[in-house]
Amino acid sequence: MDNPYDQVAYRTFPRRQTHPDRLAAIALFFGMKPAPPTACRVLEIGCGDGANLIPLAYYLPESRFTGIDLAAGPVAAAGAMAAELAVHNIDLRVADLRHLSARDGEFDYIFAHGLYSWIPADVRDRLLAVCRQCLAPQGVAFVSYNVYPGRYPRQMIREILLYHTRTLVDPAQRIAAARRLLEQLDHPEARSLMEQGDDVLFHDDLAPVNDPVWFREFAAHAQRHGLQYLGEADSHNTFEQVAGEAVNVIEREQYVDFLNLRRFRQTLLCRAEIPLDRVTGAARMDEFLFSENKRARRIRAHQPEPVFAEEPVEAIAQALHDTAPLPARFEELIPYAGNAELLREILFALLSSGCVNLHVHDFPCQETVTERPCASRLARYQAAGGGNVTNACHIPVELDAVARRLVGLLDGTRTHQQIARELSRTAGMPSPRDVRRYLPASLDWLARMALLEG
Ligand SMILES: C[S@@+](CC[C@H](N)C(=O)[O-])C[C@H]1O[C@@H](n2cnc3c(N)ncnc32)[C@H](O)[C@@H]1O
Repeated sequence: MDNPYDQVAYRTFPRRQTHPDRLAAIALFFGMKPAPPTACRVLEIGCGDGANLIPLAYYLPESRFTGIDLAAGPVAAAGAMAAELAVHNIDLRVADLRHLSARDGEFDYIFAHGLYSWIPADVRDRLLAVCRQCLAPQGVAFVSYNVYPGRYPRQMIREILLYHTRTLVDPAQRIAAARRLLEQLDHPEARSLMEQGDDVLFHDDLAPVNDPVWFREFAAHAQRHGLQYLGEADSHNTFEQVAGEAVNVIEREQYVDFLNLRRFRQTLLCRAEIPLDRVTGAARMDEFLFSENKRARRIRAHQPEPVFAEEPVEAIAQALHDTAPLPARFEELIPYAGNAELLREILFALLSSGCVNLHVHDFPCQETVTERPCASRLARYQAAGGGNVTNACHIPVELDAVARRLVGLLDGTRTHQQIARELSRTAGMPSPRDVRRYLPASLDWLARMALLEG
């Protein structure tokens, strides 16, 4: 029980930006030949309670998932969840990343979210060594970490809190003392930290190690381990890079951090010897699927001098809005632009201004409501637990108590009438009349949210 992650539970979440679809799409954009999300091998280092890895394993049954974590408690919770869901393509283990090596297998995708900045320098070094040793030739590693300059204000608060709690050992006492001091600190960073849960305060800010780095240092560290910078999992600047052939990408990214006062990075790495094509991705838009990023409809605001006629851009934005959160294929969007050439250009403009997400995977789900609707087993399990549910696109969906009860009833055996009857019989649910009235729209919404299965 000495492990801090066993002392204070740390809640993990599905991270859309780690989905093999996202990693494969970015790798493909830069000319790599990544493994398809539907048939890949994934390793998550520091998987915690499995909230990221288990939904991926559930929705990608032909792929193989391995999750390791040093803390026994979260791994046991993850194991129990995988067993209850009968997800068998996942191997969850208590292990120290320092002992991983090529003997543990080869992986197409490796994630280490929330780890690099929080582990001592020697373990950090080992993390990148493991990424190199275990990464398949066309593999992609995802490593997130805190960066300067944006992280400076939070570090200031952290150092104050570490000093203030230096004599306390008990986690609950340290958290309480830190909160009392935070209340007195008149600083935006202190106020935003007050809003975080105890787990974040304890493991992020009161943790023995939390070392931000400059991006250029991280890139150099990766290079020493035979890894090169591919892009960011969550930044449209990644796609802008194709504009200039002779650009030093590392230098450019460092300046992006200076200018945006960036504080966190979710970097993708690949083997150093892989030739990357940072020039022609824009011409290959037809190889991808696209989904709305919530800012899609603001495309005009990004362009002081519109390059495109307003109409096709609006029509594409609307089409993507209508299919969201699911992606649309390039061919499906051609009618909105009128021709493939114009669509290619518009989609690239939307991509490089952060208005659309790039995909290679058509997240399978039941898009229309059937006679006996069936919510995914994962959604039913999560709804019964009272939390958010994870949809087929790996996005957490918030449900109220009525929607959670409704999802629980959608096991594919009940007709709409039976669902309405059972729902209205449950204590605290709306009247039978209201249930009948709102059920069709509620079921449509669940289908649209990619929570139903065929
Ligand atoms: C900040 S949490 C991040 C959890 C999760 N990846 C997320 O982003 O929400 C860090 C996790 O890494 C695990 N960890 C720390 N050092 C480790 C090591 N040497 N080997 C394996 N896991 C480790 C911790 O137990 C903890 O669960």
